[in-house]
Amino acid sequence: MDPKRKKEIKERLLGSKFRLISERLYLAESKNAGDVFPDEECFREYHRGYQKQKEQWNVDPLKTITKELKKKDDAEMTVADIGCGEGKLAHLLRKKAKVNSFDLVSTAPHITVANMNNLPLPKKSVSAAVFCLSLMNKDYGAALDEARRVLKKRGALLVTEIESRLPQDKGSFIDEVESHGFALVKERNIDELFCYFEFARSKKPLVKKKETLKPCRYKKR
Ligand SMILES: C[S@@+](CC[C@H](N)C(=O)[O-])C[C@H]1O[C@@H](n2cnc3c(N)ncnc32)[C@H](O)[C@@H]1O
Repeated sequence: MDPKRKKEIKERLLGSKFRLISERLYLAESKNAGDVFPDEECFREYHRGYQKQKEQWNVDPLKTITKELKKKDDAEMTVADIGCGEGKLAHLLRKKAKVNSFDLVSTAPHITVANMNNLPLPKKSVSAAVFCLSLMNKDYGAALDEARRVLKKRGALLVTEIESRLPQDKGSFIDEVESHGFALVKERNIDELFCYFEFARSKKPLVKKKETLKPCRYKKR
């Protein structure tokens, strides 16, 4: 077969697999999210597809997170990168912070296998918690609670999300996160595709709001 055609077919297959796994992660309850990756190769393929997807973006939201964290005046910064994928944030921040990287599968020695609703970190132990496009499961509110548990007092919660996942009124997403015991610090559009939110750990309100982010749906091709 013509090598160009072969490459095209391979990329298409990678793209479909990426979309299929993403949809499964969006529709899964967090306790079952690990079942989406039956083996390490499946996780690696998903991330190869994710990297391909990234080539079409003008901005990498992980770079936005990196810039925001580098601005912070904290000589002993510790970060929990929750749903870290291939653990790139740890490399990007190697001169600035100690990054604890967590995901459902580990593809590098610095990544710890952990479900985001149950992190192997003591309470109030990190200065920042990061969800870079990783608030994926149906019940992601449980992961927000877990992030609050491991964050120090006034610790920072950094979230980047796909604009189209947000409810029409962005304020309801902010209210929802705040109802888990956070206060909005800043919020902005990164570009037409992505939004950035930063919250500070604050007092816990009595009533938690329901999840407002929509699952990311892909067009059938
Ligand atoms: C779109 S990728 C983003 C990866 C990384 N944050 C980045 O920006 O490169 C989302 C990641 O969240 C992880 N994830 C989804 N649900 C999870 C869960 N319940 N516990 C831990 N990780 C989860 C996925 O395995 C995936 O690696």
